[in-house]
Amino acid sequence: MWSGRFRDPLNKQFEEWQRSFPFDYRLLPHEVEASIAHARAIEAAGILTSEELLQMEEGLRAVSKLENIRGNEQAEDIHHFVEFQLTKQIGPLALKLHTGRSRNEQIATDMRLFVRDSIDAAIVGLRAWAMALIELAEHAGEATIPSYTHLQRAEPVLVAHWLLAYVSMIERDISRLSDARKRMNLCPLGSGAVAGATLALDRSIAAEALGFSAPTPNSMDATSDRDFLLDFTQALSTLGLHISRFAEELTLYSTAEFGFVDLPEAFSTGSSAMPQKKNPDLTELIRGKSARLLGASVTLSTLIKGLPLAYNKDLQEGQEPIFDAADTIAGILSVLPAFTRSLKFNFARMKSAATTGYLNAMAAATYLSNKGVPFRKAHEIVGNAVRLGLETGRELNDLTLAELRQLAPEFGEDFFSAITLEATLDCHDVVGGTNRARVAQALVEARTRITGLAPQESAKIESGV
Ligand code: ARG
Repeated sequence: MWSGRFRDPLNKQFEEWQRSFPFDYRLLPHEVEASIAHARAIEAAGILTSEELLQMEEGLRAVSKLENIRGNEQAEDIHHFVEFQLTKQIGPLALKLHTGRSRNEQIATDMRLFVRDSIDAAIVGLRAWAMALIELAEHAGEATIPSYTHLQRAEPVLVAHWLLAYVSMIERDISRLSDARKRMNLCPLGSGAVAGATLALDRSIAAEALGFSAPTPNSMDATSDRDFLLDFTQALSTLGLHISRFAEELTLYSTAEFGFVDLPEAFSTGSSAMPQKKNPDLTELIRGKSARLLGASVTLSTLIKGLPLAYNKDLQEGQEPIFDAADTIAGILSVLPAFTRSLKFNFARMKSAATTGYLNAMAAATYLSNKGVPFRKAHEIVGNAVRLGLETGRELNDLTLAELRQLAPEFGEDFFSAITLEATLDCHDVVGGTNRARVAQALVEARTRITGLAPQESAKIESGV
């Protein structure tokens, strides 16, 4: 591929060690697609006849169908492999394919195509997960769960409200990924090794053939830019954090101590030592795998930091973390929607937790403030009522009106209906609050938004392809 100026053979260990084929073999479909696009551009530039172009396209398609290529020991990288195999298919004509191009622009193009596909797949998976959460929320109806701050019971919320919190996160994740896709959707082909192709190529030919919205504007940037890998892994690492928080909550809620959820057997495992165990392996693994997503983003940042323009071989090291991150998120999203759908909540346990421990204290203070007591004062009075309850083993609604009146004359008979579970929910009557009608509305809106994201189309529409 490049041995013309060399007299000494390569050191054997070095030769093996520097090869990227053992991992970049998986770029085969993208390398072929990009090569076909380039062939069309050089045909238009008069390097190939239309007959030769047809032969080349046919040869490239045959190469893309090769199977079990991974073990090929001759190929240095996927670019080398495809040209070599093309020569086997169509003879010396294959040697014309590399006219006016460089591996530097090829790898930049292949990786963009790979990431673009991974983003599309991740968006499809995220949408499925969001729908699973929405269905679970719809099914939960008016079931309640304590909300926590500092992991201490705070106020009751609707189970649907809690689940919709994750839908909000997913929507931001989808928006980050679509945004990254849109920004990266430019074609490096025609950038040459660093300074631009040495042929008067019409760069829009390859760009269009590959579904990019335009050619990249600067050859030095295009051959060394890996921002799209940063954007991708950073978006995935944030997404990983969200998924990990969900996994952590379910791990916690499935303990005997919480008992809010019964882990689906289809997604759990037993212990080889303790016969009674049912372990939350799925959520634990997800929590663990999200670390790899964050790891990929850190690897990419440290790899790129300090690289002089333009291409440097260091960049080859950026491939494996991307493949790993893409596989990791694909794996997570292959199980998460079905797992979510199969969750069985113990609504009675949730409700009992949501109705004990003075979770209606805020509603009680709100009652007093509605009677004209300044909130700070109301807070203190209800604090005294809670103290009385704690000392006598009673909830706020078990205190008598006479006892309450001793704390503040503003307490009236209507107090008890202001601190029921329903009233405690409904007093949060704001957009984004857990008031029952607000949540019902939020659920309808979330379903409409997520349904509106057609599986494949969402990303494509946003990126203008
Ligand atoms: N395998 C190389 C990579 O992944 C392809 C580009 C090689 N370019 C070069 N000038 N050696 O980065």
